[in-house]
Amino acid sequence: MDPIRNPYAPGAGARPPELAGRDDTLRAFDVVLKRVAQGRPERSLVLTGLRGVGKTVLLNRLRYSAVQAGWGTGKLEARPGADLRRPLGAAIHMAIRELGHADAQAVLGTVKAFVERQARPGAKPSERWQAGISAPLVTGRADSGDIEIDLVELFTDVAGLAADHGTGVALFLDEMQDLGPGDVSAVCAACHELGQQGLPLIVVGAGLPHVPTVLSASKSYSERLFSYQRIGRLDRAAADLALSVPAANEDAAFEPEALDAMYELTGGYPYFIQAYGKVVWDLAAASPITVEDVRSGAPEAEADLAVGFFGSRFERATPGERDYLRAMAELAADDLGAVASADVAGRLGRKPQSLSPARDSLIKKGLVYSAARGAVSFTVPHFGKYLRDQG
Ligand SMILES: Nc1ncnc2c1ncn2[C@@H]1O[C@H](COP(=O)(O)OP(=O)(O)OP(=O)(O)O)[C@@H](O)[C@H]1O
Ligand SMILES: [Mg+2]
Repeated sequence: MDPIRNPYAPGAGARPPELAGRDDTLRAFDVVLKRVAQGRPERSLVLTGLRGVGKTVLLNRLRYSAVQAGWGTGKLEARPGADLRRPLGAAIHMAIRELGHADAQAVLGTVKAFVERQARPGAKPSERWQAGISAPLVTGRADSGDIEIDLVELFTDVAGLAADHGTGVALFLDEMQDLGPGDVSAVCAACHELGQQGLPLIVVGAGLPHVPTVLSASKSYSERLFSYQRIGRLDRAAADLALSVPAANEDAAFEPEALDAMYELTGGYPYFIQAYGKVVWDLAAASPITVEDVRSGAPEAEADLAVGFFGSRFERATPGERDYLRAMAELAADDLGAVASADVAGRLGRKPQSLSPARDSLIKKGLVYSAARGAVSFTVPHFGKYLRDQG
């Protein structure tokens, strides 16, 4: 069918034509916004799930809800080993601009001080970051150099500004598992403090399934700060909607058997739904799309995924790390369960300690995660199958 009208959108963070199966989270977030704006105690949301399940697009959708509610919003992505000040300052700057209050100059001056405060003392002026904020610098708040103290002060001032105008501020933090230990603990401490003061600033997070472990290792009270929302595969009804609604908007449809076959192939994983939908649409001669169309499109969709979804990630691994991944794939029968790292070592005929660097590096690269001590799992759905098929 006409490729120009193809509605499907495989891609990292690509807005799906129909955001299926996430109504519960959207409703929960509306309650959070309303309660926090009223100064009532409420846990913010953190979305957790595997690669490609739709955390980023859902985070963007939640941001839209906050904007609709008149909140100031900003978004940032944590990066391994990167300092939080600059991206966080930029996100807060954006949120304050969105609020659009004329009396924001002093708070902007504090944001500037926060960003320009170097983590490393004694840096030359030429090495200092420029915040790109035109307001005059305000010193004495959020610039102590201790990220935990500074975040509390910064959040308090920013939330105070929003509260004066009866709204709030929401910061959206993607790839939360990549925050450094100091930054995790500062974010938790600041959210904790703001909650106690009933101030309207929330951090809405998204990340891999082990985010709760990372946060609770840092602050034992983190479970009381965040309500973890597991984002996963779509159930059959939602997966059908994800395919049928966009098709209907283009005056097309799927035969019921075609939807059966699609669910079997995609397992309800959002990225796979978009990838197969895209290929099958282009290949089908006419609506309704049939099970034969799905079957003949499958190899091309698989080939696209092998390059774009699996291959691009596998290439980030070193040869030693690839051996580790292949051993995991041989051990993990269903790809979802955890594998004991001792078994991986056994399979490779190595001592477990000698494989720790490979394992840690794979975790840093976001290819595997460890939800429990001594266990590892793939972050990418169907990754084990991909590796086994490669032989
Ligand atoms: N609820 C949904 N219904 C249909 N398609 C969806 C849904 N959520 C996400 N998608 C599609 O799935 C793909 C992956 O989405 P997204 O990039 O948000 O995943 P992610 O969980 O952030 O992945 P990663 O961990 O790699 O960052 C996109 O192509 C998006 O359009
Ligand atoms: Mg994402």
